Amino acid sequence: MPIDFAAIPRSALPGLLCSAPKAELHIHIEGSLEPELIFALARRNGVDLAYPSVDALRAAYAFSDLQSFLDIYYAGASVLIEEQDFFDMAWAYFERAAADHVVHAELFFDPQTHTVRGVDIGVVIRGLHRACQQAQSQLGISASLILCFLRHLSEDEAIATLQAALPYRDLFIGVGLDSSERGHPPEKFARVFAMARAQGLHLVAHAGEEGPPAYIESALDVLQVQRIDHGVRCVESPALVQRLAASRMPLTVCPLSNVKLCVYKTMADHQLPALLAAGLCATINSDDPAYFGGYMNANFTATFDALPQLGAAQAYRLMCNSFEASFASDAAKAGWTAQLDGAFQAAAAGA
Ligand code: ADE
Ligand code: ZN
Repeated sequence: MPIDFAAIPRSALPGLLCSAPKAELHIHIEGSLEPELIFALARRNGVDLAYPSVDALRAAYAFSDLQSFLDIYYAGASVLIEEQDFFDMAWAYFERAAADHVVHAELFFDPQTHTVRGVDIGVVIRGLHRACQQAQSQLGISASLILCFLRHLSEDEAIATLQAALPYRDLFIGVGLDSSERGHPPEKFARVFAMARAQGLHLVAHAGEEGPPAYIESALDVLQVQRIDHGVRCVESPALVQRLAASRMPLTVCPLSNVKLCVYKTMADHQLPALLAAGLCATINSDDPAYFGGYMNANFTATFDALPQLGAAQAYRLMCNSFEASFASDAAKAGWTAQLDGAFQAAAAGA
């Protein structure tokens, strides 16, 4: 039976947004480090921080653009040294994800941020992987890892990182591209993405967050990615919007991030309604939740509060898209989509 979205009252929407099952496909695990955990790990590892207190650190979270955020984000990650640190960080995220009814998560991690400080890549991957396993066994969350290359560094450094990670090939499912976008187009990483493709890894890339629509096109054409992270600047090119919609190319949109990093002045200016109206496979994600004001449900809530054009049909579409766009098995996707249908059918029936 089709879901009667019109039967779901607006008053039921906030609860439904929070309680419905969803997948998170764009979360930098280092961006989930809360200031309290940064300070705890700094104490544990004897790392000096540039801020005297949790409050002083949090007060510095006023960003003018992507780079102003990245400078603080990399400094925060400097407290991660032992395998247990990586486990603790990811486990803290999974506990919050479970509270938000995230049933599947694909976590980005930035190995170069750690290897440059002398941390072995195996320490990073093993700690994160152990947390992913425990997320499945204790929280029922299916979780996997995507290794991101830092685009402000060279392609040769990205290749060295991929090679160092290959002994752990079975512990991550794909590669991505993040960090400073402007001046670092996707095509700079053509060779390393071809190498990752040859390994059977999934491919994603940040594009069109601050960079122009042409970066989205080269991520598709040169890197041959399967998802675009952010991608919101596609709206500047109607032909590109049409291409993305026709190919059901997913965009992992991060609304609170976009406002915090001044991609949009306010949430009311966000282009998510236009992306959905154009038939794009857009999803909602938290990006760096410890820095941008919240996790998955905070993103859904802030977005729907500010954009009255979005209602129950769009909420269902976004969550359904998150399963479709994931790298999970078809059977898992079908199971989560059935759960989602159940939640919306119950809301339409007034339950
Ligand atoms: N690394 C962490 N968050 C990021 C973002 N929003 N864009 C690019 N690189 C990132
Ligand atoms: Zn991101």
